[in-house]
Amino acid sequence: MRDMTPTDRKMRLCAFWFPPGSHPGGWRMPDAIPGSESSFAAFVEVAQMAERGRMDAIFFADSVAVQPVDLIAEGDPAAGKVYRGAAGLEPMSLLPALAAVTTRIGLIATGTTTYNAPYHIARRFATLDQISGGRGGWNLVTSQTESEAQNFGFDRHMEHDDRYDRANEFFDVVAGLWDSWADAAMVHDKATAQCFDPAKVRILNHDGRHFKVRGPLNVLRSPQGRPIVVQAGASGPGKALAARIADCVFSAQATLAEARQFADEIRATAITFGRRPEHLRIMPGIIPVLGRTDAEAQELLEELRANITDEQALRSLYRVAGGLDLRKYPLDGPLPDLPRSNGAQGRQRLLIGMARKDGLTLRQAARRFAEGQAHQLVCGSAATVADVMQDWFEQGACDGFCVMPIYYPRGIRDIVDLLIPELRRRGLFRTEYEGRTLRDNLGLPRPASRFDA
Ligand SMILES: Cc1cc2nc3c(=O)[nH]c(=O)nc-3n(C[C@H](O)[C@H](O)[C@H](O)COP(=O)(O)O)c2cc1C
Repeated sequence: MRDMTPTDRKMRLCAFWFPPGSHPGGWRMPDAIPGSESSFAAFVEVAQMAERGRMDAIFFADSVAVQPVDLIAEGDPAAGKVYRGAAGLEPMSLLPALAAVTTRIGLIATGTTTYNAPYHIARRFATLDQISGGRGGWNLVTSQTESEAQNFGFDRHMEHDDRYDRANEFFDVVAGLWDSWADAAMVHDKATAQCFDPAKVRILNHDGRHFKVRGPLNVLRSPQGRPIVVQAGASGPGKALAARIADCVFSAQATLAEARQFADEIRATAITFGRRPEHLRIMPGIIPVLGRTDAEAQELLEELRANITDEQALRSLYRVAGGLDLRKYPLDGPLPDLPRSNGAQGRQRLLIGMARKDGLTLRQAARRFAEGQAHQLVCGSAATVADVMQDWFEQGACDGFCVMPIYYPRGIRDIVDLLIPELRRRGLFRTEYEGRTLRDNLGLPRPASRFDA
């Protein structure tokens, strides 16, 4: 067990809640409560628990399609065994409701740049930031699957690099709209009938390759100046976008060496965009499987593993298989060569690298990928898990973690009641929120507006 090592630099922790939980075998555990994906009460409970743990934020992933829809369309009777991503709640409707029942925790939702208009996104997230008193965050994604395209009038998902080209311009429009109003634009002068100062509002007049947007935004500059922006792409264009615009970079990293290389690259690229690397928070995912002792945690992990069938494991590769039907390959043969994915290229690379490095069969690769989705799974007592987190943090591989609860309600409870107290004991994590806004708590400065220039 490590000694306490007080430091000024505090770890950032975001609860990445993807109901019914991040371990695919979790929902089948005897104490798992099913239905959390559409129970508002369950979302409230998870958010309030994460806030009790003084976690920086709660984060909701999203896609604009039922994830196993292609399997349903194929008439695959086992499609109904894919639970995660089958259904949920729309995050931009969910977060303002959660803002009303929490006071300090950050609220981050996913919004796709491929199937939205920038004005809508700018307006919704600025509103979330107003409602929550400065706790809003936007996870900018470009979407990953064909089935999302097909809900918006397209037969095929836009090409990977075109999506990122659009995402770059999309962000610039959103950021421009968020900067429509100076902080002190509203004067409310009853005596002179002056509501606002027109010199403190700007028309954007954006005219680019993908968008033509006049502006200004009909929501005032928000408490954080602009909501926190998160990006989690891992391909070349994904990393470049993250380095250019993100406050927080979420990632999936399996080893400390890879995480460090990723963080170094993002920080170095941020400098080339004129940014200060200390203004980025790099937070890889981690799935803690916790017990009061290492043995107890190991027992839990075995139980979780026994709950995943080979078939389910194979289906977890669907998103990264590049269209190849892996069911046609022998489970005990090697992972076949995969065509380049138009979805998650970074994630596909991680899978191939993991299978090649460890000489895994298709079955083994599928089971390992199903379990962590290329995120790091750490099993043990709070001290064992905290050792790994402390190592990554102190060796510069990250600024904190996206912590992924295994299932509802146990996952978040164990994080808050077992893991966080151990991180605190080591002086790595806060006992109280430092500020009122998510930006304050992440230790990030409020961006200057163009009116300050
Ligand atoms: C922690 C984390 C959360 C993510 N959440 C979402 C999400 O909610 N929706 C989505 O479409 N993609 C999500 N992604 C995927 C990335 O945004 C990105 O689309 C994916 O990694 C593919 O990008 P790439 O081709 O640049 O690697 C997430 C990735 C990570 C690491």
